[in-house]
Amino acid sequence: MGNSGGEHAAGRVVVVGSANVDVVVDVPRHPRGGETILGGELRRSPGGKGANQAVAAARAGGADTVLVGALGRDDGAELLLRSLAGAGVRTDGVPRVGAPTGTALITVSTDGENAIVVAPGANDRVTVDDGARELIASADVVLAQLEIPVETVVAAAGARRPGVPFVLNAAPSRDLPDAVWRAVDVLVVNEHEAADLAGRGGENPAEEPSELARVLLSRVPAVVVTLGGEGSLVARRGRLDVRVPGIEVVAVDTTGAGDTFCGVLAAELARGVDLAEAARVAGVAGALAVTRPGAQEAAPHRAEVLATLRRHRG
Ligand code: RIB
Repeated sequence: MGNSGGEHAAGRVVVVGSANVDVVVDVPRHPRGGETILGGELRRSPGGKGANQAVAAARAGGADTVLVGALGRDDGAELLLRSLAGAGVRTDGVPRVGAPTGTALITVSTDGENAIVVAPGANDRVTVDDGARELIASADVVLAQLEIPVETVVAAAGARRPGVPFVLNAAPSRDLPDAVWRAVDVLVVNEHEAADLAGRGGENPAEEPSELARVLLSRVPAVVVTLGGEGSLVARRGRLDVRVPGIEVVAVDTTGAGDTFCGVLAAELARGVDLAEAARVAGVAGALAVTRPGAQEAAPHRAEVLATLRRHRG
């Protein structure tokens, strides 16, 4: 399957994950421990890896998208619901719970690099109840990350129909129980997360991504390692690795670019597109996302992704 977009009917992606209010300050550089620096104006914008990926799957991936998550009973929740609804994401799997909406404190430096601390709040209450189970059972692809309880990730994987791919974006990286490793069909990680999960954490990821992927393939059938501006590596058991080149862009804000990649990857897989081609489309969407500020606001529209893809294919 070499084609994506127009030639495959959109499928359904169910994202099980976090939603955060991103509280963002632009800084000339990230502060060192114990240091105070002055930044720019404070911005509040919709974020959270789960919600970002859902917005990207819907807007940039064109998928019928459902979010299973949790929000507080506060105005942060309203901000997120507006953004999700604007992108066409279904939110009946997102209850309002007795904890504040998740919040992420983000600094963005002049070169577009971010540093993030998350206060999970309501995200710690995301569960797979009967309603969520029914939604997950309707998915063509289930996509999760690690800003919610790991038991919920396991339950989400267990609720999908047989044969439906379970895609895990192992971010932020943490030790994974065997139940998660057993459930994963496609693992999406950046180089640092790949090194952590391959037991090489703490060092600079000096090892080649393909070496890290080899280690991870002993536990999951397919791995996508995202390489920032360099594109991505798609590694599958019993198949040659595919290096997907990046496209050149000027980075303004990298926040949420990985989430855009994951959401679009899942949307392409839900269309029945092959993993390497899905990574190509996702890479273009992720690259477009770094050219503008914010997380959900930065996710491009599908027409722009497909037009850029066509230009780069030549
Ligand atoms: O991946 C970017 C996201 O990480 C931000 O939107 C922030 O909320 C944190 O979850």
